[in-house]
Amino acid sequence: MHVRTLGQGLQVSAVGLGAMGMSQSYGPNPGSREDMIGVLRGAVEHGVTFIDTAEVYGPYVNEELVGEALEPIRDQVVIATKFGWNIVDGTMQGVDSRPEQIRKVADDSLRRLRTDVIDLFYQHRVDPDVPIEDVAGTVAELVQAGKVRHFGLSEAGAGTIRRAHAVHPVTAVQSEYSLWTRDPEPEVLPTLAELGIGFVPFSPLGKGFLTGTVDATTAFSAGDIRTRVPRFTAENLDANQALVAYVRTIAEAKGVTPGQIALAWLLAQQPWIVPIPGTRRLSRMTENAAATTVALSADEVADLDAVAARIGVSGNRYDENGMAMVGL
Ligand SMILES: NC(=O)c1ccc[n+]([C@@H]2O[C@H](COP(=O)([O-])OP(=O)(O)OC[C@H]3O[C@@H](n4cnc5c(N)ncnc54)[C@H](OP(=O)(O)O)[C@@H]3O)[C@@H](O)[C@H]2O)c1
Repeated sequence: MHVRTLGQGLQVSAVGLGAMGMSQSYGPNPGSREDMIGVLRGAVEHGVTFIDTAEVYGPYVNEELVGEALEPIRDQVVIATKFGWNIVDGTMQGVDSRPEQIRKVADDSLRRLRTDVIDLFYQHRVDPDVPIEDVAGTVAELVQAGKVRHFGLSEAGAGTIRRAHAVHPVTAVQSEYSLWTRDPEPEVLPTLAELGIGFVPFSPLGKGFLTGTVDATTAFSAGDIRTRVPRFTAENLDANQALVAYVRTIAEAKGVTPGQIALAWLLAQQPWIVPIPGTRRLSRMTENAAATTVALSADEVADLDAVAARIGVSGNRYDENGMAMVGL
């Protein structure tokens, strides 16, 4: 597995693994908890050593799962988790990045993750009521105390990133980015390039869409987040299918899968970009990891960009509430 360097010299596998779907968002899990532990440990065996979780996934049970799976191999992995929510009786009640809340989440996450240090601690969403300088200062104290190694932000805009970085160096920004979600391109990516901060695209497979396994006939179960995402309505999926058809053409010509093309396209953007595809299946994890061996020529990248721009995307990437929380 190739290694990439995010900001502040943090080295991680070129493709990571998002653990969220193991506990929520994509409907019933096709495997057992033991199977998920197998996927997480299998990932590390395959060199996928950058694992993404969050306090709010579950909530809590995803961190517990990751903690149990990785405890015996803790020294081989980089664990990223996230703070920033007010969680009441298992339900998210908006954002909360007050310093006392960040400190509490850090201690609770350390316990659930069965570790004495969080490698990368992201603010999950910007809190409009807490100046980002106070958030960065609090994380800096946690770094000082040895509880956290690196500071990250998620779905933050360029101005917020600059202000945070001025207080404590930011190692990585995590936001949705893929062939059909280009929001970070105009401002965030140039800012990260200038400041030497890494970028971690979430939902790099377009929540499964870019793998070519989802179309207008796909029936999502009630607990599947895609029932609430506008671009996954049957009508929009139909309109968006043209992009996947082109990705499939390129994939077939190269003897790889559409999902691998989607990941290779991200890897081709910048050497400091590290996607974290999520899956609950070992076979897909290895398929996704193997995207690091798929080389796209400059012409192929340009063609994908041109086709994606021509087709455009029908439907937002979040519902109204979700869109209101993103800071890009
Ligand atoms: N910071 C944030 O706000 C935020 C938001 C969303 C996600 N994330 C992080 O980003 C990670 C990845 O994002 P995501 O899970 O939303 O989206 P994703 O990685 O784009 O897609 C996940 C979906 O694709 C399917 N899939 C994965 N590999 C596949 C393959 N090779 N072939 C066919 N289908 C495949 C998965 O199904 P199976 O599981 O059934 O394989 C799942 O339905 C999450 O796990 C989480 O850690 C962060």
